[in-house]
Amino acid sequence: MKRTIKDLVNLKGKRVLLRVDFNVPIDDAGRMLDMTRVNEAIPTIKYLSEQGAKVVLMSHLGRPDGFEITKSLWPIALYLMKKFPNKVHFSNHILAEGVKERIDALNNGEILLLENVRFYEQEEACDMDFAKKISELGDLFVNDAFSVSHRKHASIYGVGRILPNAIGLLMEKELHNMGLCLENPKRPFVAIIGGAKVKDKIKTIKKLIDIADCILLGGAMAYTFLVAEGIAVASSKTSIESVPVAKEVLDYAREKGKRVLLPIDHIAIRESDKKEKKEIVDFMIDDMIGYDIGPKTIKLFSDEILKAGQILWNGPLGKYEDERFKEGTFKIAKAIADSKAYSIVGGGDSVSAVKQSGLASSINFLSTGGGATLKFIEDGSLPCVDIIQEKIR
Ligand code: 3PG
Repeated sequence: MKRTIKDLVNLKGKRVLLRVDFNVPIDDAGRMLDMTRVNEAIPTIKYLSEQGAKVVLMSHLGRPDGFEITKSLWPIALYLMKKFPNKVHFSNHILAEGVKERIDALNNGEILLLENVRFYEQEEACDMDFAKKISELGDLFVNDAFSVSHRKHASIYGVGRILPNAIGLLMEKELHNMGLCLENPKRPFVAIIGGAKVKDKIKTIKKLIDIADCILLGGAMAYTFLVAEGIAVASSKTSIESVPVAKEVLDYAREKGKRVLLPIDHIAIRESDKKEKKEIVDFMIDDMIGYDIGPKTIKLFSDEILKAGQILWNGPLGKYEDERFKEGTFKIAKAIADSKAYSIVGGGDSVSAVKQSGLASSINFLSTGGGATLKFIEDGSLPCVDIIQEKIR
């Protein structure tokens, strides 16, 4: 068990560098579309502030190439100012002259948000000189950023290796739920994997074959698996180079006696149909493109979900952002909400579908992790968590 902030004593006046993941979805103008990740970090910020620490927040936002105004964390500082009146400050630099003095001058319990760490090229390169200079701004390091803990970057991996450290309350919740899911799942354990990118998820699916009882595959990714099974998918989006590995995965499941269920019908449109009328089909022919699972698949998948003891869902089942193709994803969300299983949903799109359908309160745990969740399933841990000190028993 990792040391948590609750194990830290005498925080009064201590400068705590708190790595959070404020990488929220933004539109082209830099407008923030969903503040869940910020809200989820608040309990840790609040706890540290109430303990009298000087809380220094570090995060990235997006993948900027140097400074980009639309990727500034300033709007998040404004948001936090409302949550913690008269306590929040913002620094538009991390290493410039005067930043250390500003931190020293904070009153106990005050909070300073530093500008986007990815404005510095040394961040992603995990430059240890850069990490060392950041470390000089704090006495302790806290990692509350599960969703970026698969990245060995300077502000999370580098600083975490230098300073005495602990995990935050959100990280504790994420690790607890991933542990429940992977180490001692309630049976039958049903994993639902969707989304578009086969390559990103292939290792995760293989690992899930080891631990889950049944795997339901949907989303654009499923078309590549159907091709691997010799089923024609007409003009649907597939990743031809991933077909051999998809075949390998399906063979592996057969060897292990595990069930991997693929869609048995589809919502498709014809490329040549100017009106783009959707059709429900068992087989795609001619110039059809599949965009969602059909009603028979919804029933097949829902029956498995309703029998499950535990469910893990990552990735939408269709192009759910388009009104015409949202039914598969939303009906699967509903089946999960209706089931008695312990349910964990991860990945930005699946979590957003659950929220849009108003079912969030019926899900046991909504993870903030996307890529990190997949990496955790593959490896059973994350590098930026591994470096955190164990609890002293
Ligand atoms: C995420 O959104 O998955 C994390 O914040 C990591 O972001 P990244 O994929 O840009 O490293």
